[in-house]
Amino acid sequence: MRRNIVAGNWKMNKTFQEADDLINEISEGLDDISIKNVEIILCPPFPFLEMTTDYAQESNFSVGAQNVSSYEAGAYTGEISAQMLQSIDVEYCIIGHSERRKYFKETDEILTLKAEMLLKCGIIPIFCCGEELPEREAGNHFNVVKTQLETALFKLDPLDFGKIVIAYEPVWAIGTGVTASSDQAQEMHAYIRSLIIEKYGKETAKNTSILYGGSCNAKNAKELFANPDVDGGLIGGASLIAEDFLKIIQSF
Ligand code: 13P
Repeated sequence: MRRNIVAGNWKMNKTFQEADDLINEISEGLDDISIKNVEIILCPPFPFLEMTTDYAQESNFSVGAQNVSSYEAGAYTGEISAQMLQSIDVEYCIIGHSERRKYFKETDEILTLKAEMLLKCGIIPIFCCGEELPEREAGNHFNVVKTQLETALFKLDPLDFGKIVIAYEPVWAIGTGVTASSDQAQEMHAYIRSLIIEKYGKETAKNTSILYGGSCNAKNAKELFANPDVDGGLIGGASLIAEDFLKIIQSF
């Protein structure tokens, strides 16, 4: 079901104590603000997930992981399975972040497997897509995103696809302070929705949440979220500061 979402991707930041402090600040902050029609998701690093799901029982947010193995179980040293995440009440998982595509060679084919693993365990994938700067400059950004969606996600059956959350994250906007303009975000989100209409039909497209990510902050969130096809944000840097993250949540 389409809903407004603000998700914080902490990436590889914070120690245990710092994570504890940040979750505490966010929880207390959430008690003090009125939250209008928005789901909040915290995606801390793996070692802090269980602490975060414990907090979530008493607070108004859900918990997501930042990655999952494409394997089910067994001799895969260092991997974390979807079943493990499920067993500590993780409800969402980011897959296909551009940093994982770039540094860990994650391909769209692997992402299909990861999405399937997660869905089997009742965890909702937050699928990231987005073009690099030279691809946009060459006018190829629509094609890039189309290929990412078609290769990784459009392999899913309609029932499974209907559970997915999509995050459009232009790579040139991530961590750079350069945000996509409101028009650029809306244009790409509307395009993504049109691709979903073609593949899965109007009803599914209408019900799919499409988030924007890339230097989204307390100042620009309101304008970005005001677009009809922007259903919230996947926030990096600004999700590490409780005050900023809470302001973004209040941008709806
Ligand atoms: P920034 O908000 O730091 O640009 O990061 C966005 C992002 O990559 C979220 O997944």
